[in-house]
Amino acid sequence: MSFLKFEDIDKSFGESNVISKFSLEVEKGKFIVLLGPSGCGKSTLLRMIAGLEKIDNGKILLENNLLNDLLPSKRQIAMVFQSYALYPHMNVFENISFGLMNEKIKKDKIKEKVIEAAKILKIKELLDRKPKELSGGQRQRVAIGRAITRNPKLFLFDEPLSNLDAALRSEMRVEISKLHKKLKSNIIYVTHDQVEAMTLADKIVIMNKGNIEQFGTPEDIYNDPKNVFVAEFIGNPKMNIIKIKKEDIVNKNNLNLFNKIIKFENSNFDEDIYIGIRPEDISLENKSEIAVKITIELIENLGSEKIIYTHLNGTEIRIKSTKNIKDKNITIYLPRNKLYLFDSKKNRIKT
Ligand SMILES: Nc1ncnc2c1ncn2[C@@H]1O[C@H](COP(=O)(O)OP(=O)(O)O)[C@@H](O)[C@H]1O
Ligand SMILES: [Mg+2]
Repeated sequence: MSFLKFEDIDKSFGESNVISKFSLEVEKGKFIVLLGPSGCGKSTLLRMIAGLEKIDNGKILLENNLLNDLLPSKRQIAMVFQSYALYPHMNVFENISFGLMNEKIKKDKIKEKVIEAAKILKIKELLDRKPKELSGGQRQRVAIGRAITRNPKLFLFDEPLSNLDAALRSEMRVEISKLHKKLKSNIIYVTHDQVEAMTLADKIVIMNKGNIEQFGTPEDIYNDPKNVFVAEFIGNPKMNIIKIKKEDIVNKNNLNLFNKIIKFENSNFDEDIYIGIRPEDISLENKSEIAVKITIELIENLGSEKIIYTHLNGTEIRIKSTKNIKDKNITIYLPRNKLYLFDSKKNRIKT
């Protein structure tokens, strides 16, 4: 039995269809990240799980219980939003305990739960402060604390770190990951940030226009993308995708780089194809069969590594390297086993 199951979920707002035939099964105890561009329906899906949005068609089951018509308060689900949603006139203690106050739980028990959550989140010394006396990261901890005290079956996070600055974001990312390991909780976490997805998730759902492009572990998704959309969405800088026209492939006399690649792949193509290679997989030192002379157009120095920009077959290419580069004209090497081929519809061709 799966822990959480979506069966053919449809959702439209007026005429516009946002989610269509969304089906997914999630195991217990997993950290699941919904990753996709802004507007692809992530929040809508989360809100349907929480009961804040009506489901048009299909079923959502939590431990085999149908959620569709259950009141939000009966679902045993806690949601943490990007906007924290704290009450400005209440102190941290009151904000964390807010959900419990409504559940007629004894005062001593509430205090115990709040202190336990505050300890886990390292905000015990802040319990008397008002939200305006807290930093963004501390506010987000309070919002998470409120969710923890409710001891839900399922935590939903909607872009909880988007309002934080970069340093705090990576710190909170680690905290949330530790929290998951400690509480062994079930989490559905929404983000458009691929780094958050890669670092936090047991499994990632890559979404595009209300559909699932791929569902798998971060390793699966990085190493074995099903199509160009997924390949480009994971990895920074994104995977280089070079379009090769059919004419260039069939012209056997034209022994350019791409014919070399195709020859290596030992396949015949009678349509346009796309060749993909990740910036970090292109080498300046380790020689391999496919060598290309390039002229560097720009180098971005990121400190520990550099991003080199050039063009191949009319497409801008990014190369990640730690090497110190003095020459403008260099040779780059594309390892064969790091090449990805995609058909004219941008779906992966396995070779
Ligand atoms: N209440 C609503 N009424 C009309 N359209 C909505 C509503 N909520 C979301 N949408 C639309 O549905 C689409 C998906 O939105 P959303 O789920 O918020 O995307 P995401 O969270 O992935 O950025 C968007 O095009 C958005 O404009
Ligand atoms: Mg959203």
